[in-house]
Amino acid sequence: MEHTVKRLQDRAAIITGAAAGIGRATADRFAEEGARVLIADIDGVGAETAAGEIEAAGGTAAWIQTDVTDEAQIQAMVSHCVDRFQRVDILVNNAGVAVPGSVTSMSTDAWSRVMDINLRSMYLAMRYAIPHMTHGSAIVNMSSGQALLGFPGWAGYAATKGAAIALTQQTAVEYARQGIRVNAVAPGTIMTPLNQKIFDEAKDAEALAKSWGDQHALGRFGRSEEVASVIAFLASDDSSFVTGVCIPVDGGMRILGPTASAE
Ligand SMILES: NC(=O)c1ccc[n+]([C@@H]2O[C@H](COP(=O)([O-])OP(=O)(O)OC[C@H]3O[C@@H](n4cnc5c(N)ncnc54)[C@H](O)[C@@H]3O)[C@@H](O)[C@H]2O)c1
Repeated sequence: MEHTVKRLQDRAAIITGAAAGIGRATADRFAEEGARVLIADIDGVGAETAAGEIEAAGGTAAWIQTDVTDEAQIQAMVSHCVDRFQRVDILVNNAGVAVPGSVTSMSTDAWSRVMDINLRSMYLAMRYAIPHMTHGSAIVNMSSGQALLGFPGWAGYAATKGAAIALTQQTAVEYARQGIRVNAVAPGTIMTPLNQKIFDEAKDAEALAKSWGDQHALGRFGRSEEVASVIAFLASDDSSFVTGVCIPVDGGMRILGPTASAE
């Protein structure tokens, strides 16, 4: 889709986990709105493909293979953005994995892994990107509806997403006077490769689709583009007086009462 209003014209944006899913949709949307985007993903082939497709569509994109758990690679990611685009205006901490398990069923290794990929990565990326950011810059962190509600079997994952909101608030107040805004989004269920995998492995995919759809007041899953448009809003000057918030992008999941039906 061509966006006539280019709210992100010439801004330099780093998006982690941008080879697929919500990150990729965000990269596409940012490029359509005029931003120069750095696709950072552990999947180097996917990152290169995404950057190539954005350039072919008329956008400006670069890519770098980045494992967000590796501090040196995060530093290299930020340096690459500065080298290619001479600045860092926007950071989207999107990379994340859904590691299932309750407190008693998940291994300590699984706990550490989900903390490192989903949460420590946010700290590291902000740590190295913020010194390059000037007045008017924006950071968007990826939380989840699972930070706001209880879902059995997702203790570690939900903990990372709850901590993402706290870290967003703390960073927002810390850097507000430097003109850096920090916000988060909390998506409901979005059909991305991450969830496709759960469906592929489900015994009854149709029943799973209905039960997940029914968890949203709108009665359906979300699309990656519907999260990307809110991230673009938070990255743009359209949200210039918004900082430290977490916007649910969840089709009404959070407000659906126990007796309500999505049907
Ligand atoms: N899909 C949903 O329903 C949903 C809901 C709420 C929140 N989220 C969050 O949104 C974010 C994106 O989710 P998605 O559904 O688009 O996932 P996805 O699996 O479709 O894409 C995630 C991307 O992150 C990359 N990635 C994974 N580990 C990485 C690492 N160590 N370093 C760098 N990149 C890495 C993957 O290669 C992939 O390209 C995640 O933080 C996820 O927790 C997703």
